[in-house]
Amino acid sequence: MSDELMARINELLSHYPADKKKSAMLPVLHAVQDAHDNWLSVELMDKVAEILEVKPIEVYEVVTFYTMFNQKPIAKYMFEFCRTACCCLRGGEDLMDYTCQKLGIKPGEITEDGMFSVVGVECLGACGFGPMLQLGDNYHENLTKEKMDALIEDCKQGKVNLH
Ligand code: FES
Repeated sequence: MSDELMARINELLSHYPADKKKSAMLPVLHAVQDAHDNWLSVELMDKVAEILEVKPIEVYEVVTFYTMFNQKPIAKYMFEFCRTACCCLRGGEDLMDYTCQKLGIKPGEITEDGMFSVVGVECLGACGFGPMLQLGDNYHENLTKEKMDALIEDCKQGKVNLH
């Protein structure tokens, strides 16, 4: 953990009572993941447990529950397709299949160049705008194959901001 990251964690902890550090688990995990190529190794999770004064299993439980935490290195651009009902009814599954086919990967795999991966996630709360996906911190909504082609191309050209 860098000094900069520890300063960020201490700032986050200052929002919670000293005897309730566990309450800062989600923002601390996000900060740690952001500072480590968007994934959390066991060593990092153990360090978070130490900082929050909880058992490591309590951190593992949170990290394995939420799809926004990654337990292994991920692609630079990870398309997180909503696979819940509203998006599926508007073609979300077909679009996810199309994207996998276009990239030559299966869900959960990473392209050989490390640029892209595709995963299915549960409802992202943008049900009226499906099919949709999350890329980094941003939503891409009302997607079509043409929009997907353009998004992939923009990623390849480094035009897509993840935050
Ligand atoms: S069903 Fe896709 S965002 Fe809710």
